[in-house]
Amino acid sequence: MRTIEWQNGTVVTVDQSKLPSETVTITLKNCEEVADAIRNMKIRGAPLLGAAAAFALALTAHSSEAESRERLLAELEKSAEIIRATRPTAVNLFWAIDRILSRAKDFSGSSRELAAFVVNEAQKVADEDVAVNRLLGKHGADLIRDGDVVLTHCNAGALATVDYGTALGVIRAAWEAGKRIRVFATETRPQLQGARLTAYELRQAGIPVTLITDSMVGYVMSKRLVNKVIVGADRVVQDAVINKIGTFTIAVLAREHSIPFFVAAPTSTFDLTNRSDSVIIEQRKSEEVTHVGSIRIATKSVDVLNPAFDVTPLKYVTAVICEQGILYKGDLGKFKSSIPTRE
Ligand code: MRU
Repeated sequence: MRTIEWQNGTVVTVDQSKLPSETVTITLKNCEEVADAIRNMKIRGAPLLGAAAAFALALTAHSSEAESRERLLAELEKSAEIIRATRPTAVNLFWAIDRILSRAKDFSGSSRELAAFVVNEAQKVADEDVAVNRLLGKHGADLIRDGDVVLTHCNAGALATVDYGTALGVIRAAWEAGKRIRVFATETRPQLQGARLTAYELRQAGIPVTLITDSMVGYVMSKRLVNKVIVGADRVVQDAVINKIGTFTIAVLAREHSIPFFVAAPTSTFDLTNRSDSVIIEQRKSEEVTHVGSIRIATKSVDVLNPAFDVTPLKYVTAVICEQGILYKGDLGKFKSSIPTRE
């Protein structure tokens, strides 16, 4: 099964907050339920957020009783606002909403025809994500040599996408091409996407993986236990890559140890009209830091800072791998003019 699917007028997905101890699929029936699942990290990962946002609009269209095209468009705008307010950093969510709304506005037909069109467009967003990840994986696999040991952070795998993954898509493609590689996965405090999701996905795929805590990255690099880094992205802007908190630290350490640092991200994650200082970095609740699971580990009175993402300036990035190829320094600027950007 794909990570997210449209099934008979509902959206079916796996509840990622419960993995790996429980594999529970949830069925979402309306836009509010999708928004809740996003806020509660049942659905997470930039490309998956894009697909979920698209399907949220599809749910609104599918259940609408609007008798005019204008009325349905107004309902879609309302749902778009609800989804836009869930998480601010991953651009794919905004990209998918903008894409569906602009195509819906251009569509001329009855409200019923428009509803079917929106469902079909959402399905396209999901299908394209899988195709794009496979292509991106193929390009990226050329950078991986037999015997490489790759460090990755957070989860940029099948679970963060509709299927296959971005950073893990590159690793998967190299593995499928017969390269004997190994992976070091960071646990990724505070939400533990590395320990819970990446280690689980790689084990399922039979790819050798070693789990480390985030604070061990300097140690493994200084001991030459890894020779490449590949991470995903939540947003690629003019001057930086924005990704899970801890990515910047890993990039600086990689530079210090002359280890190539690659970012794997589809162009739906590109936001090349903006710079990093205009991006909202999501701040999450303090309990994620004061607790591990349901167990409190910190004193009750302590102040907490919990940014979900950080900003890695492009000078630390060896190349960005996308479905259109491998972009080295300077390529991103040239690339800017050739792709559709966010409105
Ligand atoms: O907070 P999350 O789990 O939604 O964040 C996801 C990430 O930051 C991933 O590392 C990723 O690179 C983006 S999804 C391919």
